[in-house]
Amino acid sequence: MANLPPSSTRIIPDIARIPRHIAIIMDGNGRWAKQRFMPRVMGHQRGVDALREVVKSCRELNVEYLTVFAFSSENWRRPADEVSFLMALFHKMLEREVTKLHQNNIRLKIIGDRIRFDSKLRQTMQDAEQLTAGNTALTLTIAANYGGRWDVMQAVQAMLREHPKLAQGFTEEDLSQYLSMSDAPEPDLFIRTGGEQRISNFMLWQLAYTELYFTDVLWPTFGRKELDAAIASYQKRERRFGRTSDQLAGDPLERKADA
Ligand code: IPE
Ligand code: IPE
Ligand code: MG
Repeated sequence: MANLPPSSTRIIPDIARIPRHIAIIMDGNGRWAKQRFMPRVMGHQRGVDALREVVKSCRELNVEYLTVFAFSSENWRRPADEVSFLMALFHKMLEREVTKLHQNNIRLKIIGDRIRFDSKLRQTMQDAEQLTAGNTALTLTIAANYGGRWDVMQAVQAMLREHPKLAQGFTEEDLSQYLSMSDAPEPDLFIRTGGEQRISNFMLWQLAYTELYFTDVLWPTFGRKELDAAIASYQKRERRFGRTSDQLAGDPLERKADA
């Protein structure tokens, strides 16, 4: 099948394996706190502990990429005191955790529009990325002031700035190099905690063929057991990328031949 349009979703990953790339919307912090008659921000505080445990688990499981949604481009609409708490927490977390990430051979990346962050935070982000840039065990990407639509828009703009002639026409491959996650495979498994079943402007382009998993568990109580359950659910799926089930039963090498 040589004439398929170019797409990076043509190779079918081996479902029995641990997903290479897991993307998570860490939702439900506010409700977790509310249930305990605590201020919402306590939920965010506990959310950092949950993230630490999930990073550790992914490292142990040899997941290659973990991408988490920490703050969306829409989250600026929240009350000012919650937004500033989240900024301070993000800053503190970066400062505190980066050494441990580095010791564990974890590469940290941050995606999103940095323009709205203050210069000190931007510097800390850059320092953390630089320190861990050569690490190879797990790539942890934090999406902060990120939006899927923003990502596509900034990619188009950056591409046209560099190659104005592409305004006449360009391919998926031309554009995808400019997307924030261009150096990672597309997520195999998407997890959203907190019970909502929506994408909320997370990685719109990259989630095209990702297996989706929703759980009512609130993010502060999500841990290894819940991660294992999500992976077990993933491993029962059949990823077809447009094909039929019968086609998949054929020679696995042939399946990959058109990739
Ligand atoms: C997710 O938890 C964390 C952020 C969006 C920063 P929420 O704060 O959205 O928690 P709920 O959805 O109100 O419970
Ligand atoms: C999405 O959560 C973004 C993050 C988890 C950072 P929200 O809780 O803000 O999502 P919506 O707005 O309810 O869909
Ligand atoms: Mg929420």
